[in-house]
Order: sequence, then structure tokens, then C-alpha cells
Amino acid sequence: MHSSRLCLTVCPRFLMNDDSLPNEPINQDRTFSIGVSDRVKRLPPYLFARLNRVMYEKRRAGDDVIDLGMGNPSDPPEEMVMEKLVEAARDPKNHGYSESLLNLRREVASKYFKQFGVRLDPEHEVLTCLGSKDGFSHMCLALMGPGDTAIIPAPSYPAHLFAVALAAGNQILLDVYDSEELLSNIAYTCQHLYPKPKLLIVNYPHNPSAATVEPEFYVEVVKLAKRYGFMVISDLAYADVAFDGYRTPSFLAAPGAIDVGVEFTTMSKGYNMAGWRVGFCAGNPEMIRALATIKSYYDYGMFRPIQIAAIMALRHTDAAVESQAQIYQRRRDVLCDGLQRLGWPITRPKATMFVWAKIPEPWASQMGSVDFAMKLMEEADVSASPGAGFGPSGEGFLRLALVENEERLRQAVRQIGRCLGGGAGGKY
Ligand SMILES: Cc1ncc(COP(=O)(O)O)c(C=O)c1O
Repeated sequence: MHSSRLCLTVCPRFLMNDDSLPNEPINQDRTFSIGVSDRVKRLPPYLFARLNRVMYEKRRAGDDVIDLGMGNPSDPPEEMVMEKLVEAARDPKNHGYSESLLNLRREVASKYFKQFGVRLDPEHEVLTCLGSKDGFSHMCLALMGPGDTAIIPAPSYPAHLFAVALAAGNQILLDVYDSEELLSNIAYTCQHLYPKPKLLIVNYPHNPSAATVEPEFYVEVVKLAKRYGFMVISDLAYADVAFDGYRTPSFLAAPGAIDVGVEFTTMSKGYNMAGWRVGFCAGNPEMIRALATIKSYYDYGMFRPIQIAAIMALRHTDAAVESQAQIYQRRRDVLCDGLQRLGWPITRPKATMFVWAKIPEPWASQMGSVDFAMKLMEEADVSASPGAGFGPSGEGFLRLALVENEERLRQAVRQIGRCLGGGAGGKY
């Protein structure tokens, strides 16, 4: 932290020994102005900052905050996957810059075939990324430029907005809740906007709303893409986290999908490997080549031991992925049952690791989602993401991530109930 601040402010003390720094004012030269690019200035404000700061302060003061804010898996990967990582890391040959292992891309192709019946050429139709967020943001950079427009699902996973903004693209936000309506809004936008949208981002199962679609949705998306000439990025981050027998469809299974787009998947969620940064792009070979070109200027690929362990995970841990989904399903039930008992109007998600909860009355009429989330944080010691953090259409909602165990979720419900005590109809 020190050194980056010192670098940016071009402070002469940069060259001094660290011991002299803590009590010294760092930014001494107020006349020097840092010319941050318009690209950075275009980024929307980070709405979660205030909540994160309060959570940090509460935790420092010893409060046990139950954190349902971020979709950060808290369970570990499979033992054999971690062992493979350690074993591969002990091999001195595995520490240089690494090429993308074809065997890893083969495993991705074979998973696509097993899970969705989609055949992919691992050499030209699959690419590894440092997490899917790395992949789709660089894909936006590869496809978009000033004057180009992308259609983005709303409410919006913030990285979808940032990726298009950083690529200097314009954004059209279309509601995700009703997939029929979304299709007709896409068609309407293409008929009436000039120049036409260049890119459509779809994300089902959707973060934050947990909305899902059936395979026919993608058939229609491909037809629209061909009719109006836009490319498609499907963000399938929650492919492995589905409940009650719901089978997440893949965009790439729709006839002709590979002509118009790509799909991103990740090992962050189903495999509990979020910190490892392993994601994949699959589909249209030209789009994949463009992404590979952009990425070759930004990174040197994935640490080889991670690739080796990821191969093991894809090859041998289907059962663990399945049981992780069941863990999320049980947590979903605990949280939804509990909030329903408190009188919240809950829709039970069929997939993702989130409950997208409408803020109940009387609070919905009294305060926005940021203030409501702050109230829960301060008075119930429960952290949740305010819907407004996902754009204006998220207002009125809270997103609760299923990243704590069932006992902690029960405790969260009790604490919320106590905090909102005396609410509508005495339900609280
Ligand atoms: C919809 C969606 N896409 C992508 C990501 C990022 O995944 P990764 O860890 O692979 O970058 C997330 C993470 O929360 C997500 O919710």
C-alpha cells in the first residue's frame, strides 16, 4: 500500500527506508496532479465500499458478523486436488512461465460433452483464463471499442458493466427476470437502435437474481444474433450449482451457437477453487483467437501446478461437485424457510449460490437497499449485498450468499428476526 501510494504521488521519500514512513505525511506535493484515464473515471462508484468498511470495523471491534455478502465459497476443494497442487508445486520444472496445457482444454471439452452434449475442438474452441472474469473482461476488450454497444443483463453482475465500460463500449441494460420478455426486448433494441448492438451478454443462472432459463431460450438467442448480427457472450459461472433436479442449459448446445458466440465457465463455484483463478472460454474459434491475442499481451498464462491440479479436479471429482450443489441446496432451504417464517416474500432459487430477496414491508417503503443492508449489518451483525449495488433495477432487493453453514444461516435468520422485531403484522 505504502509503495503504491508513494509511487503515484511521486514522493521523494520513496527512496527512504520504510521505518521512517508511518508517521510522515505521504502526499506532500499537492501541486502534482495524477491524470487518471477517462477509462478509470467512467467506472461506476463502488456501492459496497461503505458496507465493507463497517464490517471491517465491527470485526476489528470483536463482533461476529455473519457474512452473506460476497459469493466467495468457504468450503475447500477436494483433498486429492489440493494434494496434486502440492505435488506439482514441488517439482522444480513447474515454476517457469507455462503454456496452456492441452490436457486441461481436453478435460473442458469432455466435460462439455458429458454435461451438455456439446462437442468442442480443444485446440481451437477452448481457452483457459485466469478466472472467467479475466476472460470475459478481456473478451470485451477484444470485441468492443468506442461507439460499440453491448446489451447487458439487469440487474447486473458488476463485472459485466465494468468490462464493457473499460472497453469504452456503451451499455443497454435489459431486465432478466422474464426470459420471453428479454428476447422481445433484445429484438426491439436491435430494430430501433442505430448502430445496432454489437454484443449481447447473457448470464443464466443469473447473478444476482438467480433467474434461470430453459434450453429453448438459447435457440432464440442464436436466431436473433444471426438476424441482427450481434455476437454473444454467455457467462455460465453457475453451471454446477443447480437444485431440485434443474439442469442448467448451455448456450453452446443451441444449434449454430458456435457461429455467433462463446461461453465462459469457471472452477470457482462448483469446485470451490475461487482463489485459484481457473476459468474457461469455449465456442467460436475466431472470438477465442482474438481473446488469446489480447491475453498474450497481459499475462503469461496459468501457473502449471494449478493447471495440473485442475485437470485432476475435472477428471475425478464429479461426485464432489454434485454434493457441493446439495450443500448449497440445503443452505438455500434453511435460509429461505427462515426468512419466509419472518414474513419475507421469498422466491426459492433453482440455481446459483444466492437468494435474491425482496425487502419486506414496512422497510421497503421506508428505506433503500443500501440503508436496509446497513441496518442488518449494524443491528443484526449480518452482512448482505444491497440490490442497488447491481444497478437501479436491483433496488428493493438484497442478495444473500449461501456461503456460511446451515447453523450460521439459522443464526443469521434469528438475528435478523430480532433486529426487525415489531415489524409488519408482528411477524418479526
Ligand atoms: C456471474 C458471474 N460471472 C463470473 C464470476 C467470476 O468468476 P471467476 O471466479 O471465474 O472469475 C462470478 C463470480 O462471482 C459471477 O457471479
